[in-house]
Amino acid sequence: MNSTQHMHTATAIAHANIAIAKYWGKRDEQLNLPLFDSVAFGINELVTQTTATWTDEASEDALFIDGWHVPPQRIERMQRMMDIVRARKGWTKKCLLHSHNAFAHSSGLASSASGAAAAASAMSGAAGLDLSPTELSVLARHGSGSAARSIHAGWTRWHAGTSPDGSDSYAVQFAPPDHWPLDVFVVQLSTARKPVSSTECMKQCELSPFWQTYCAEASAAADIAQKAVMDRNFASLTAAAHHNAMMLHALVMSCPQPVCYFEPQTIAVIQKIFRMSTAIPVCCTIDAGPNVVVLCEEIACPFVKNEIMALDVPFIQTTIGGGAKITA
Ligand code: DP6
Repeated sequence: MNSTQHMHTATAIAHANIAIAKYWGKRDEQLNLPLFDSVAFGINELVTQTTATWTDEASEDALFIDGWHVPPQRIERMQRMMDIVRARKGWTKKCLLHSHNAFAHSSGLASSASGAAAAASAMSGAAGLDLSPTELSVLARHGSGSAARSIHAGWTRWHAGTSPDGSDSYAVQFAPPDHWPLDVFVVQLSTARKPVSSTECMKQCELSPFWQTYCAEASAAADIAQKAVMDRNFASLTAAAHHNAMMLHALVMSCPQPVCYFEPQTIAVIQKIFRMSTAIPVCCTIDAGPNVVVLCEEIACPFVKNEIMALDVPFIQTTIGGGAKITA
């Protein structure tokens, strides 16, 4: 962290996380408070690095993603985090964020999670606030709900909480990355911006005729997923992951204005993983986008890799990890 009289700077990194029991549906849209707990793991290769600078010399807050100046009307959620830090410090300084992704943003690879978590860490670090992981998780949640989980490495559970102000809605780590040495393949089928944002699509889903059924199932999903991970029970993990992801996509497709996040190759990958999963320890999940994240046990990894390569799709092979930290 560097500071002169007028300028305070810090750089942080955070990783994307992918949920097995997903966050989908809010009880408070302004505060990004979820209806249900969710369970996810951090991904080592998918990193966002953000430098935050607090200054008296700028006339407005700004966000640059890979050099692109994001239009001011689209940084409202980053500004919610900045306003929290400003209030804690009693500052009127403006905040400049320079963010770099090691992967395509807004393509369903959870870049909003790593982006908001890196921004929360960098802006609070630059301001000299020594926030606990819980406080950081709450701050990151204001930027994007799923970012609450990207503060921690390994397996995380975001507790939905019950408080109207969101003070008890944060993520905790329940198992470190080495708890279960699984291999991860991120099959990146499109880098295009997704057609409908998660935020918008979640709202639409409340109008689906399946919404109540979805809520009944989703309210139990985090307990089931966490138990599967704690027991290192791959069959249970597979059942939980596939059920939760397919339910979300069925819901999305059943909105009054239906959304289909899948590309043709998404189906090809899912079908292959579903077939393999009946015989070997492999499973997959898909966020609000076309890309597929595949998890497998080490013993199945060479076979799974060959099968993915046979589909001729771009992929990254990585491991469970993640977490946010200040780097400079
Ligand atoms: C499908 O966290 O992007 O990835 O809180 O509105 O920013 P906002 O939504 P966001 O939604 C993520 C949805 C998901 C599931 C998950 O990560 O749990």
